[in-house]
Amino acid sequence: MISEIKILGNSFLLNFQSASNHEIAILPIFAISVEMGLNYYTIKKNIRNARKLVIRATSVAGSGHPGGSFSMAEIMGCIFFKHLRYDPRNPNWEDRDKLVLSKGHASPGLFSNMAVAGYFPISELDTLRQLGSKLQGHPDLKCPGVEFCGGSLGIGLSFSVGLALAARLDGKQTRIFTVLGDGETDEGQVWEAAMTGSKYKVDNLTAILDRNFIQQDSYTEKVMPLDEELVGDDLSEMWKDASRWKIGDKWNSFGWNVIDIDGHRIEQLDHAMKKAMQTKGVPTIIVARTIKGKGVEHMEDNPKWHGQAPKKEFVPIIDMEIDSQSMIAPSIIAGDMTNLENEVKRCVGGRADYIHLDVMDGMFVPNKTFDHAKIKELRPLTVIPFDAHLMINEPLKFVRDYVDAGSDIITVHAEVCDASSFGEIHDILKANQVGVGLAINPDTDLPEWSMQFIPGLDQLIVMSVVPGKSGQKYIDSTHEKMRQLAKILTEHKFDGYIEADGGVTLDNVGACFADGARVFVGGSAIVGQQDMRGVIREFRNKIAYARRKTLIQKAHDLGGKDLVAKWIDLHTIGEKKNQLGLIAKELGYT
Ligand code: DX5
Ligand code: ZN
Repeated sequence: MISEIKILGNSFLLNFQSASNHEIAILPIFAISVEMGLNYYTIKKNIRNARKLVIRATSVAGSGHPGGSFSMAEIMGCIFFKHLRYDPRNPNWEDRDKLVLSKGHASPGLFSNMAVAGYFPISELDTLRQLGSKLQGHPDLKCPGVEFCGGSLGIGLSFSVGLALAARLDGKQTRIFTVLGDGETDEGQVWEAAMTGSKYKVDNLTAILDRNFIQQDSYTEKVMPLDEELVGDDLSEMWKDASRWKIGDKWNSFGWNVIDIDGHRIEQLDHAMKKAMQTKGVPTIIVARTIKGKGVEHMEDNPKWHGQAPKKEFVPIIDMEIDSQSMIAPSIIAGDMTNLENEVKRCVGGRADYIHLDVMDGMFVPNKTFDHAKIKELRPLTVIPFDAHLMINEPLKFVRDYVDAGSDIITVHAEVCDASSFGEIHDILKANQVGVGLAINPDTDLPEWSMQFIPGLDQLIVMSVVPGKSGQKYIDSTHEKMRQLAKILTEHKFDGYIEADGGVTLDNVGACFADGARVFVGGSAIVGQQDMRGVIREFRNKIAYARRKTLIQKAHDLGGKDLVAKWIDLHTIGEKKNQLGLIAKELGYT
């Protein structure tokens, strides 16, 4: 309970009554250790659902801020589902951590995560911005679990410094997470709070700057440059050119520990938040470079979507778009086996989403590659998720070694498991926050015993070559197999990602996407190429094309040529519109 409020500069100092006799009645379900695995899939799936809920809530309300909710979607996902300690059944739990959404206009992004976390039923999001609702256009304390009334920009950091000092006075381990908008940091009070935070060494405070380069009216670098003034309109250049980023230097000169990351990468956010917590004696700011509207192409980098709700007719198409995010997983065995360290580094330079690690034991398959000891050696080289594909006999015997080595996703083969052993593997992986994967060979169908595990599977590898080596030709009948599988998986409520593995190339990756695959392993077609970064970019372009095609088809199914034309018209930034037009023409929809 607050017993005293003092003003420190522009920061509040809140004095809480001692809670030394407090006992925790229930263990909060999100009080998890950050020492465990990345928890990649829980975070990812929750982010996906939260994004769809933002679309639902703002379209029902007819107003709201999807753009800024999406730029911070991964930031919020990592805070809520990995680092923040709270209990949705007891929002006032005294030992909770505190999240301050200083950029309060992005309240749909906060409320959607709170709904996913269980603070209130998802259906309540339909009351967003209605008179009498606890879910207003800006967060309000009348919503249990909200820590700060946002809306007036620039004051959340001052409030957070106060919370951090109060926790210190109370001898509590409370951590404060504060999400700031970049446009918001035009406010002078932010810099007063920055000085205060530094003077009082509030190392229990982590600020995260949602650096999306767009504020209400225009680009931040036009309104009030934080890095340098933007000449012309090509924002993408600014985003890509690290030599032009100055905002971190500003915070640094104010005495803050600065961590610069890609704010849409779960693993980078997670790593930065861990580092922030380990940093003592100074507050930390994570400069998370993000894209406004990220996840929905027509909203991306478009200032128009800062504060505009999507029309209802587009919601199913947008939902499909959000559901169809994909990942590239280079397989390092296609490189120099005598220098796997270098292959991992090449994957990092290539901006891979996962690093696919093909473990072969010389028994399940004739070849031998490496085992958990090698994975452990490679682990410190990057935070990119390790996607360990175990082509080994008796996986239950060894799975813990692969968890300990630092794998983020572990996939075992259905051919060497049964209900009992896979059940144990599943439980070990879930308990350690490691993704659960099952793989099937080209001539294997999903066994009957596996059906019970389908809803909890994070990844299903559908092999499109006989496992054992890279560089083989894609087995064409896999396309048909995938389509058959899609039906079974939907019936059994599969909520994970299908990984296409074996012989995937630039020529067939689009077709694999259309089959339903969302993760694409590339051995010879990626790691085997000299310019890994270039080839990954080409893979992404091919996938983007296939994805746009499925969305156009969806628009046509829902509303014929008329809706197709409207969908295309939404895309005003970049080259997308032209390509969508060509796809529609090709499909005979114009
Ligand atoms: C095959 C492996 C694959 C393979 C990929 O046993 O599981 O990951 O190495 O390499 P490419 O893409 O060359 O088939
Ligand atoms: Zn593989």
